[in-house]
Amino acid sequence: MHNFNDPQLLKNFSYINGSWHSSASDIAVNNPATGELVANVSNAGVAETELAVKAAKGAFKSWSAKSANERSVLLRKWFDLMMENQDDLGRILTLEQGKPLVEAKGEVAYGAAFLEWFSEEGKRVYGDTIPAPSGDKRIVVIKQPVGVVAAITPWNFPNAMIARKAAAALAAGCTFVVRPATQTPLSALAMAELAERAGIPAGVFNVVVGDDARGMGKVLTEHKDVAKFTFTGSTAVGKSLISQCASTVKKVSMELGGNAPFIVFDDADLDAAVSGALISKYRNAGQTCVCTNRVLVQESVLAEFTEKFVEAVKGLSLGNGLDEGVTIGPMITPQAVGDVKKLIDESISQGAQLILGSNDTDLGTSFLTPTILTGVTNDMAIANNEIFGPVSPIMSFKDESEALAIANDTEYGLAAYFYSRDIGRIWRVAEGLEFGMIGINEGIISNAAAPFGGMKQSGNGREGSKYGLDDFLEIKYLCMGGLDK
Ligand code: SIN
Repeated sequence: MHNFNDPQLLKNFSYINGSWHSSASDIAVNNPATGELVANVSNAGVAETELAVKAAKGAFKSWSAKSANERSVLLRKWFDLMMENQDDLGRILTLEQGKPLVEAKGEVAYGAAFLEWFSEEGKRVYGDTIPAPSGDKRIVVIKQPVGVVAAITPWNFPNAMIARKAAAALAAGCTFVVRPATQTPLSALAMAELAERAGIPAGVFNVVVGDDARGMGKVLTEHKDVAKFTFTGSTAVGKSLISQCASTVKKVSMELGGNAPFIVFDDADLDAAVSGALISKYRNAGQTCVCTNRVLVQESVLAEFTEKFVEAVKGLSLGNGLDEGVTIGPMITPQAVGDVKKLIDESISQGAQLILGSNDTDLGTSFLTPTILTGVTNDMAIANNEIFGPVSPIMSFKDESEALAIANDTEYGLAAYFYSRDIGRIWRVAEGLEFGMIGINEGIISNAAAPFGGMKQSGNGREGSKYGLDDFLEIKYLCMGGLDK
């Protein structure tokens, strides 16, 4: 009914130790654009999660003993299969998550790129030798996989957030258990099917789907056989997961919330800044951690930038992600729309002006028309909360130091963007921004070769890039003595 080239990619069961597990009840996966049922998926729970950890523990010995080259061949094969099935994977993603098909296929390529990249980088897990303090000793450093990795991943990137973690973990020699978001398990299960076809051995990559977030989360964060826990999601949930991991002193890495400033200086190429803001804000209907959250524009170019930006946003086409020409899809649920509307209303009551959007649409209750607010100040709720929706709050600033002060006045520190053509300013501002990732004359910064991650309460650890491998490796120091005898 969904026109897949390969209907076998639509799976309904958790994938544990190389087999598909059914459970007594089901979770309904609905299309956010229409509310229609896409599929029912078996609702796994604590027992299946424990089984998956056991499987990952069992598979660790042989997977970690494989050479980096052997693992590389399998990861590369998985990458090839993801790309061969990009159309179907994109369609599954749009059906369960809502983003436009072109964007969904882009996410599949983005996710697959991590498999390709880490299939190569896994061969470069180098150790070290260090000059010892006395002649009879040698100091050698080796790096080894941490063990079983557990992950909880979000609904906004149902493919790429799993791929970004699993690719690095598996390349390092770890085994992996993921609990994907219950709204979007189908992409995760399709990835498991392709992992199996690629020859990834049973137990190395496990997917448990279930709505017992608390119970399953407890297993993944507290089980003694899980060595490392990795999470992408909100800061509030991340904080409680970190505290659960404390009981067994797990290694953790956290990709948490953001509040990205997008700064437009008076020397910027305004047309480039408009294009950058458009993609950085409205990609995935504003539902990414690195989305622009506050647009800061220097006073002298405020009117011109705002006029051009409004025209560009008017050009977006809202609708069902499967429809031709749609550039912005629904939000994940009607409740998510309601939460964002509350922030809009609150900022209007605090003095902001609604100059575009937030109007009724007959597309359905999961849709929010792309919105722009002006006259926003940093003390408004819309400026100090992660919006996670298609709303641009525009504020103004006088000079560079005020821009930096406003931009940094947040507990978050994930991504920031700025537009300027002045090389001195570019260095000063890039160094002054308290964020882990900075787009300079760029609205899209994510790719497999770059370290993705945040400062402050946006998390810790890095994903992607050579640094992303470190999070899955232990450093072991070998002190070799008695060498003068
Ligand atoms: C996220 O929103 O968590 C990820 C965004 C990205 O990888 O670009």
